[in-house]
Amino acid sequence: MAANTRKSPKDLRSARWFGPDDLRSFGHRSRMMQLGYAEEDFRDRPVIGILNTWSELNSCHGHFRERAQDVKRGVLQAGGFPVELPSLSVDESFTKPTSMLYRNMLAMETEEMIRSHPLDGVVLMGGCDKTTPGLVMGALTAGVPMIYLPAGPMLRGHYAGRILGSGSDAWKYWDERRAGNISDDEWLGIQGGIARSVGTCMTMGTASTMTAITDAMGLTLPGASSIPAADAGHQRMSAECGRRIVDMVWTDLTPDRIVTAGAVRNAAIIAMATGCSTNAVVHLIAMARRAGVDFTLDDLDELGRTTPLIANVRPSGKDYLMEDFFYAGGLRALMKQMEARLDTSCLTVTGKTMGENLEGAVVYNDDVIRPLSNPVYHEGSLALLRGNLCPDGAVIKPAACDPKFHVHEGPALVFDSYPEMKKAIDDENLEVTPDHVLVLRNAGPQGGPGMPEWGMLPIPKALIKQGHRDMLRISDARMSGTSYGACVLHVAPEAYIGGPLALLRTGDIVRMDLPARRLDMLVDEAEIARRREARVPPEPRFARGWGWMFSQHVTQADKGCDFDYLERGFGPAAGEPDIF
Ligand code: FES
Repeated sequence: MAANTRKSPKDLRSARWFGPDDLRSFGHRSRMMQLGYAEEDFRDRPVIGILNTWSELNSCHGHFRERAQDVKRGVLQAGGFPVELPSLSVDESFTKPTSMLYRNMLAMETEEMIRSHPLDGVVLMGGCDKTTPGLVMGALTAGVPMIYLPAGPMLRGHYAGRILGSGSDAWKYWDERRAGNISDDEWLGIQGGIARSVGTCMTMGTASTMTAITDAMGLTLPGASSIPAADAGHQRMSAECGRRIVDMVWTDLTPDRIVTAGAVRNAAIIAMATGCSTNAVVHLIAMARRAGVDFTLDDLDELGRTTPLIANVRPSGKDYLMEDFFYAGGLRALMKQMEARLDTSCLTVTGKTMGENLEGAVVYNDDVIRPLSNPVYHEGSLALLRGNLCPDGAVIKPAACDPKFHVHEGPALVFDSYPEMKKAIDDENLEVTPDHVLVLRNAGPQGGPGMPEWGMLPIPKALIKQGHRDMLRISDARMSGTSYGACVLHVAPEAYIGGPLALLRTGDIVRMDLPARRLDMLVDEAEIARRREARVPPEPRFARGWGWMFSQHVTQADKGCDFDYLERGFGPAAGEPDIF
């Protein structure tokens, strides 16, 4: 369908279900009437699916039942017919062994729910870490018009006059507790004050990073990702999503017109400028590949070298949280600062270009959203490393680690599993120095399984007591977007499938040279070859079920950890059900 033309009711996808005078359509219509609807409620109107990831075990989405009502109000106002579909709620706090094991499950569910049902367009309700890429990946492949409704960050944390940031302060105060500096009462107070409202983590963690990326791609209403969940503006934004998606259906504003190579690059630039979570690497690559854009680690590194970090939001920034970021103007204001570096011609869900959406955006506090002349950090948030330990890449967040580790050489202290590491770390007699390099392996996509967020390995108790709070750490795991420290992550290929990290031994010297983007073990090639020859591969993690399917098909971190058969050939491939 050509741009700027409008569909007629007979062109609606849902008309295939409800329009024909045949037995199957009779069945579809009669079942809608069973639900209490008259024909005029659902015929000849865009049917809008509201994919709602609400769950009583997802504290970040606690407001989604009410917000779905706001979306419905908007859809009805615009002449559409809303239907709410419960979707897999992959929450970050409770899902074990890791929510990442289920991101692709949500993506598959989203794609198939859209494809198999009479939906003309969808509103995707997500926000807690994996829900954003999961919903977007599936909907990109399904290909119907879609708009993303971000859950919004929670309010700032508070305890005893102190402001608390999700995750970051949990790690920080846990270290103090391990060092014996925090009482039980204080610990309980922090526990009650660190998550004070519905909404996602309010540091620039994975949730805020991924919703910002989606916003910068043009898939949300402009600036929607910054609105706090508890703000009345969030309800108004939700209703506007409902109104807007109806018009997107009539104008056939499909995601392939929005998520172009330019939009992906815009999203990556904005991710760097916000001080994004390292998880952005895996998810952005996976989302881009679903859209048919071959975006790589090298592209990210190039943007990382040239994009200043201008959002002074923890953990990469020092002082502020997402609520402050919103009051300072939010993502639109940050994008306005970055406008000269963006492709402002990209189309967005508003039907306007990114440049048009940014008109009038203003920074209200230039300590929170810095000018390019006074960045928080002169380079972007992420750097890509390569070397004989990570031939397919590894990732580090330079702004979140002590600069003294940017060039570092030290002996490896290697752990094969998380329980083994945890036991050793808490041993006050562990033989470890601040120069040691902690290594955790078998924690990648297959080894974890699911690449858990274990990458911010705890500092050994022996060093904590000496006052040390950072050291060089390496793993094939991910880390929480709220984490910080000299943590090299996403080592690819992972140890579990025989990547070189599997060949490292305790005592080997490891060298990281961040300016040169290198990570190597200083072991000669002949010895590495001998170790490779002698390696015995581990048993598969799973014999059945989702885990088996996951481990058969998950790709490595540098490819986004999608399933090989879902991204095959790149680009939307869903098509329509051909049997009615
Ligand atoms: Fe849901 Fe952090 S736990 S966003």
